[in-house]
Amino acid sequence: MIRKCLFPVAGYGTRFLPATKSMPKEMLPIVNKPLVQYGVEEAEAAGLNNVTFVTGRGKRAIADHFDISYELEHQISGTSKEKYLDGIRHLIDNVNFSFIRQNNMLGLGHAILTGESLIGDEAFGVVLADDLCFGESDEEDGVMAQMVKLYNQFRCTIVAIEEVPEDEVHKYGIIKGESMMDGLYRVTDMVEKPSKEEAPSNLAIIGRYILTPDIFDKIRNTPAGRNGEVQITDAILQQAKEGCVLAYKFKGKRFDCGSVDGFVEATNYCYQNIYKDPTEA
Ligand code: UTP
Repeated sequence: MIRKCLFPVAGYGTRFLPATKSMPKEMLPIVNKPLVQYGVEEAEAAGLNNVTFVTGRGKRAIADHFDISYELEHQISGTSKEKYLDGIRHLIDNVNFSFIRQNNMLGLGHAILTGESLIGDEAFGVVLADDLCFGESDEEDGVMAQMVKLYNQFRCTIVAIEEVPEDEVHKYGIIKGESMMDGLYRVTDMVEKPSKEEAPSNLAIIGRYILTPDIFDKIRNTPAGRNGEVQITDAILQQAKEGCVLAYKFKGKRFDCGSVDGFVEATNYCYQNIYKDPTEA
Protein backbone atom coordinates (compact mmCIF):
# COMPACT_ATOMS: atom_id res chain seq x y z
CA MET A 1 0.00 0.00 0.00
CA ILE A 2 1.27 3.47 -0.81
CA ARG A 3 0.39 5.87 1.98
CA LYS A 4 2.83 8.74 1.62
CA CYS A 5 3.23 11.57 -0.82
CA LEU A 6 6.12 14.00 -1.03
CA PHE A 7 5.64 17.57 -2.21
CA PRO A 8 8.92 19.31 -3.03
CA VAL A 9 8.03 22.98 -2.64
CA ALA A 10 11.36 24.56 -1.85
CA GLY A 11 12.03 26.13 -5.27
CA TYR A 12 12.27 29.89 -5.73
CA GLY A 13 9.56 30.25 -8.39
CA THR A 14 11.62 32.91 -10.16
CA ARG A 15 9.38 32.89 -13.22
CA PHE A 16 6.64 34.47 -11.12
CA LEU A 17 8.66 37.25 -9.53
CA PRO A 18 7.76 39.61 -8.00
CA ALA A 19 4.62 37.67 -6.92
CA THR A 20 6.83 34.97 -5.41
CA LYS A 21 9.20 37.30 -3.58
CA SER A 22 7.56 36.71 -0.20
CA MET A 23 4.85 34.22 -1.16
CA PRO A 24 5.43 30.59 -2.19
CA LYS A 25 4.72 29.84 -5.85
CA GLU A 26 2.60 26.90 -4.68
CA MET A 27 0.22 29.30 -2.91
CA LEU A 28 -0.63 31.20 -6.11
CA PRO A 29 -4.35 30.69 -6.66
CA ILE A 30 -5.94 29.08 -9.68
CA VAL A 31 -9.23 31.00 -9.37
CA ASN A 32 -9.93 30.63 -5.62
CA LYS A 33 -7.71 27.73 -4.59
CA PRO A 34 -3.94 27.63 -4.18
CA LEU A 35 -2.07 25.34 -6.56
CA VAL A 36 -0.79 23.18 -3.73
CA GLN A 37 -4.32 22.42 -2.50
CA TYR A 38 -5.24 20.91 -5.88
CA GLY A 39 -2.17 18.68 -5.55
CA VAL A 40 -3.00 17.57 -2.01
CA GLU A 41 -6.60 16.85 -3.06
CA GLU A 42 -5.28 14.63 -5.85
CA ALA A 43 -2.99 12.77 -3.43
CA GLU A 44 -5.73 12.30 -0.84
CA ALA A 45 -8.15 11.03 -3.47
CA ALA A 46 -5.49 8.43 -4.37
CA GLY A 47 -5.39 7.24 -0.75
CA LEU A 48 -2.10 8.99 0.10
CA ASN A 49 -3.08 10.42 3.46
CA ASN A 50 0.40 11.25 4.69
CA VAL A 51 1.76 14.32 3.00
CA THR A 52 5.31 15.53 3.48
CA PHE A 53 6.37 18.95 2.27
CA VAL A 54 10.00 19.61 1.53
CA THR A 55 9.97 23.33 2.19
CA GLY A 56 12.45 26.14 2.28
CA ARG A 57 12.76 29.65 3.54
CA GLY A 58 9.68 31.83 3.08
CA LYS A 59 7.24 28.93 2.72
CA ARG A 60 5.42 29.16 6.04
CA ALA A 61 2.16 30.11 4.30
CA ILE A 62 1.89 26.48 3.11
CA ALA A 63 1.97 25.13 6.67
CA ASP A 64 -0.57 27.74 7.77
CA HIS A 65 -2.86 26.88 4.87
CA PHE A 66 -3.09 23.26 6.01
CA ASP A 67 -3.85 24.22 9.60
CA ILE A 68 -6.97 25.56 11.29
CA SER A 69 -7.39 29.32 11.42
CA TYR A 70 -9.39 29.76 14.62
CA GLU A 71 -9.94 33.49 14.18
CA LEU A 72 -11.31 33.04 10.66
CA GLU A 73 -13.45 30.07 11.65
CA HIS A 74 -14.91 32.06 14.53
CA GLN A 75 -15.59 35.02 12.26
CA ILE A 76 -17.55 33.12 9.62
CA SER A 77 -19.10 30.48 11.83
CA GLY A 78 -22.83 30.15 11.18
CA THR A 79 -22.74 32.20 7.94
CA SER A 80 -23.07 30.96 4.34
CA LYS A 81 -19.34 31.68 3.91
CA GLU A 82 -18.44 28.64 5.99
CA LYS A 83 -18.90 26.60 2.82
CA TYR A 84 -15.81 28.21 1.30
CA LEU A 85 -13.72 26.29 3.82
CA ASP A 86 -15.33 22.86 3.28
CA GLY A 87 -12.62 21.57 0.91
CA ILE A 88 -9.65 22.61 3.02
CA ARG A 89 -11.34 21.40 6.24
CA HIS A 90 -11.78 17.99 4.67
CA LEU A 91 -8.04 17.83 3.94
CA ILE A 92 -7.07 19.05 7.41
CA ASP A 93 -9.29 16.33 8.95
CA ASN A 94 -8.13 13.52 6.68
CA VAL A 95 -4.46 14.11 5.91
CA ASN A 96 -1.40 14.06 8.20
CA PHE A 97 1.02 16.79 7.24
CA SER A 98 4.72 16.87 7.98
CA PHE A 99 7.40 19.33 6.96
CA ILE A 100 11.12 19.21 6.47
CA ARG A 101 13.44 21.95 5.27
CA GLN A 102 15.74 21.80 2.30
CA ASN A 103 18.39 24.28 3.39
CA ASN A 104 20.15 24.54 0.04
CA MET A 105 18.12 24.35 -3.15
CA LEU A 106 20.22 21.76 -4.95
CA GLY A 107 17.59 20.49 -7.33
CA LEU A 108 14.64 18.14 -7.35
CA GLY A 109 16.74 15.02 -6.67
CA HIS A 110 18.23 16.67 -3.60
CA ALA A 111 14.76 17.84 -2.46
CA ILE A 112 13.46 14.27 -2.65
CA LEU A 113 16.48 12.95 -0.75
CA THR A 114 15.80 15.57 1.94
CA GLY A 115 12.45 13.87 2.55
CA GLU A 116 14.00 10.46 3.20
CA SER A 117 13.74 10.53 6.99
CA LEU A 118 10.00 11.19 6.79
CA ILE A 119 9.33 8.66 4.04
CA GLY A 120 11.42 5.75 5.29
CA ASP A 121 11.65 2.40 3.55
CA GLU A 122 8.45 2.39 1.50
CA ALA A 123 7.26 3.38 -1.95
CA PHE A 124 5.81 6.89 -2.14
CA GLY A 125 4.19 9.35 -4.49
CA VAL A 126 5.74 12.64 -5.56
CA VAL A 127 3.64 15.59 -6.70
CA LEU A 128 5.11 18.74 -8.19
CA ALA A 129 2.26 21.08 -7.42
CA ASP A 130 3.07 23.46 -10.24
CA ASP A 131 1.98 20.75 -12.67
CA LEU A 132 -1.77 20.95 -12.21
CA CYS A 133 -3.43 17.69 -13.27
CA PHE A 134 -7.00 16.57 -13.68
CA GLY A 135 -8.43 13.14 -14.52
CA GLU A 136 -10.72 12.77 -17.53
CA SER A 137 -13.79 13.77 -15.54
CA ASP A 138 -14.98 14.19 -11.95
CA GLU A 139 -16.03 10.57 -11.88
CA GLU A 140 -12.73 9.23 -13.25
CA ASP A 141 -9.52 8.74 -11.24
CA GLY A 142 -7.07 11.61 -10.91
CA VAL A 143 -3.55 11.09 -12.23
CA MET A 144 -2.02 9.93 -8.91
CA ALA A 145 -4.88 7.46 -8.36
CA GLN A 146 -4.26 6.02 -11.85
CA MET A 147 -0.58 5.60 -10.98
CA VAL A 148 -1.28 3.97 -7.61
CA LYS A 149 -3.40 1.34 -9.37
CA LEU A 150 -0.52 0.63 -11.75
CA TYR A 151 1.95 0.47 -8.88
CA ASN A 152 -0.22 -2.12 -7.13
CA GLN A 153 0.05 -4.23 -10.27
CA PHE A 154 3.75 -3.74 -11.18
CA ARG A 155 5.47 -2.71 -7.89
CA CYS A 156 8.16 -0.53 -9.43
CA THR A 157 8.96 3.14 -10.00
CA ILE A 158 6.49 4.86 -12.33
CA VAL A 159 6.79 8.27 -14.01
CA ALA A 160 3.85 10.04 -15.62
CA ILE A 161 4.46 11.14 -19.19
CA GLU A 162 2.79 13.28 -21.80
CA GLU A 163 3.44 13.80 -25.50
CA VAL A 164 4.82 17.29 -26.08
CA PRO A 165 5.52 19.19 -29.31
CA GLU A 166 9.07 18.71 -30.67
CA ASP A 167 10.02 22.30 -29.94
CA GLU A 168 9.28 21.82 -26.23
CA VAL A 169 11.32 18.68 -25.52
CA HIS A 170 14.19 20.86 -24.23
CA LYS A 171 12.08 21.78 -21.17
CA TYR A 172 11.58 18.21 -19.91
CA GLY A 173 13.10 14.88 -19.04
CA ILE A 174 12.40 12.77 -22.14
CA ILE A 175 12.13 9.00 -22.08
CA LYS A 176 12.93 6.26 -24.53
CA GLY A 177 10.79 3.21 -23.92
CA GLU A 178 9.50 -0.11 -25.14
CA SER A 179 5.74 -0.19 -25.39
CA MET A 180 4.24 -2.77 -23.00
CA MET A 181 0.58 -2.02 -23.57
CA ASP A 182 -1.53 0.94 -24.58
CA GLY A 183 -0.09 4.01 -22.81
CA LEU A 184 2.52 2.08 -20.79
CA TYR A 185 6.24 1.89 -21.59
CA ARG A 186 9.21 0.22 -20.01
CA VAL A 187 11.88 2.90 -19.76
CA THR A 188 15.19 2.08 -21.49
CA ASP A 189 16.71 5.56 -21.48
CA MET A 190 16.03 9.07 -20.25
CA VAL A 191 17.58 12.37 -21.23
CA GLU A 192 17.17 15.55 -19.20
CA LYS A 193 16.24 18.60 -21.28
CA PRO A 194 17.57 17.35 -24.64
CA SER A 195 17.71 19.37 -27.85
CA LYS A 196 15.23 18.45 -30.59
CA GLU A 197 17.97 16.45 -32.31
CA GLU A 198 19.06 14.54 -29.18
CA ALA A 199 15.56 13.72 -27.90
CA PRO A 200 14.84 9.97 -28.07
CA SER A 201 11.07 10.64 -28.33
CA ASN A 202 8.54 13.34 -27.53
CA LEU A 203 7.37 11.59 -24.33
CA ALA A 204 8.01 14.06 -21.53
CA ILE A 205 8.07 13.33 -17.80
CA ILE A 206 5.65 15.52 -15.90
CA GLY A 207 5.42 16.23 -12.18
CA ARG A 208 3.93 12.97 -10.93
CA TYR A 209 6.03 10.01 -9.79
CA ILE A 210 5.77 6.89 -7.73
CA LEU A 211 9.21 6.01 -6.44
CA THR A 212 10.43 2.87 -4.73
CA PRO A 213 12.65 3.59 -1.69
CA ASP A 214 15.88 2.40 -3.33
CA ILE A 215 15.69 5.77 -5.10
CA PHE A 216 17.35 7.38 -2.06
CA ASP A 217 20.58 5.41 -2.51
CA LYS A 218 20.48 6.11 -6.21
CA ILE A 219 20.17 9.86 -5.56
CA ARG A 220 23.03 9.71 -3.04
CA ASN A 221 25.18 8.11 -5.72
CA THR A 222 24.19 10.60 -8.42
CA PRO A 223 26.85 13.24 -9.05
CA ALA A 224 25.63 16.84 -9.13
CA GLY A 225 25.24 18.26 -12.61
CA ARG A 226 24.83 21.81 -13.87
CA ASN A 227 24.70 24.46 -11.08
CA GLY A 228 25.44 21.77 -8.48
CA GLU A 229 21.89 20.42 -8.93
CA VAL A 230 21.05 16.76 -8.43
CA GLN A 231 18.63 15.62 -11.12
CA ILE A 232 16.01 13.05 -10.23
CA THR A 233 16.03 11.70 -13.81
CA ASP A 234 19.64 10.47 -13.40
CA ALA A 235 18.66 8.47 -10.30
CA ILE A 236 15.54 7.05 -11.97
CA LEU A 237 17.59 6.07 -15.03
CA GLN A 238 19.84 4.09 -12.69
CA GLN A 239 16.76 2.25 -11.39
CA ALA A 240 15.68 1.58 -14.98
CA LYS A 241 19.08 0.10 -15.84
CA GLU A 242 19.17 -2.17 -12.81
CA GLY A 243 15.50 -3.12 -12.65
CA CYS A 244 12.28 -1.80 -14.10
CA VAL A 245 10.86 1.70 -14.44
CA LEU A 246 7.53 2.32 -16.14
CA ALA A 247 6.39 5.43 -17.96
CA TYR A 248 2.64 5.96 -17.98
CA LYS A 249 0.76 8.16 -20.41
CA PHE A 250 -1.87 9.36 -17.95
CA LYS A 251 -5.50 9.93 -18.83
CA GLY A 252 -6.55 13.51 -18.30
CA LYS A 253 -5.19 17.02 -18.55
CA ARG A 254 -2.13 18.80 -17.27
CA PHE A 255 -1.20 22.47 -17.07
CA ASP A 256 2.34 23.70 -16.54
CA CYS A 257 1.54 26.30 -13.91
CA GLY A 258 5.24 26.95 -13.34
CA SER A 259 5.08 29.00 -16.56
CA VAL A 260 2.97 32.11 -17.03
CA ASP A 261 1.23 30.75 -20.16
CA GLY A 262 0.28 27.48 -18.46
CA PHE A 263 -0.89 29.33 -15.39
CA VAL A 264 -3.24 31.52 -17.42
CA GLU A 265 -4.54 28.51 -19.40
CA ALA A 266 -5.21 26.64 -16.15
CA THR A 267 -7.01 29.63 -14.69
CA ASN A 268 -9.30 29.92 -17.72
CA TYR A 269 -9.94 26.18 -17.78
CA CYS A 270 -10.76 25.99 -14.07
CA TYR A 271 -12.99 29.07 -14.18
CA GLN A 272 -14.97 27.65 -17.08
CA ASN A 273 -15.08 23.98 -16.11
CA ILE A 274 -14.39 23.45 -12.43
CA TYR A 275 -15.02 26.49 -10.27
CA LYS A 276 -18.38 26.62 -8.49
CA ASP A 277 -19.25 29.26 -5.93
CA PRO A 278 -20.30 27.01 -3.01
CA THR A 279 -22.63 29.69 -1.60
CA GLU A 280 -24.68 29.63 -4.83
CA ALA A 281 -25.30 25.87 -4.80
P1 UTP B 1 11.22 24.17 -10.84
O1 UTP B 1 12.57 24.45 -11.31
O2 UTP B 1 10.12 24.01 -11.82
O3 UTP B 1 10.68 25.25 -9.80
O4 UTP B 1 11.28 22.89 -9.89
P2 UTP B 1 11.30 26.59 -9.31
O5 UTP B 1 12.75 26.52 -9.20
O6 UTP B 1 10.53 26.91 -8.06
O7 UTP B 1 10.77 27.61 -10.43
P3 UTP B 1 11.52 28.68 -11.35
O8 UTP B 1 12.11 27.86 -12.47
O9 UTP B 1 12.54 29.39 -10.51
O10 UTP B 1 10.41 29.59 -11.80
C1 UTP B 1 10.32 21.85 -9.92
C2 UTP B 1 9.79 21.56 -8.52
O11 UTP B 1 10.84 21.15 -7.67
C3 UTP B 1 10.88 21.93 -6.48
C4 UTP B 1 10.17 23.23 -6.84
O12 UTP B 1 9.59 23.80 -5.68
C5 UTP B 1 9.13 22.77 -7.85
O13 UTP B 1 7.96 22.27 -7.22
N1 UTP B 1 12.30 22.11 -6.10
C6 UTP B 1 13.22 22.42 -7.05
C7 UTP B 1 12.67 21.96 -4.79
O14 UTP B 1 11.83 21.67 -3.89
N2 UTP B 1 13.99 22.11 -4.46
C8 UTP B 1 14.94 22.42 -5.39
O15 UTP B 1 16.13 22.52 -5.02
C9 UTP B 1 14.54 22.58 -6.71
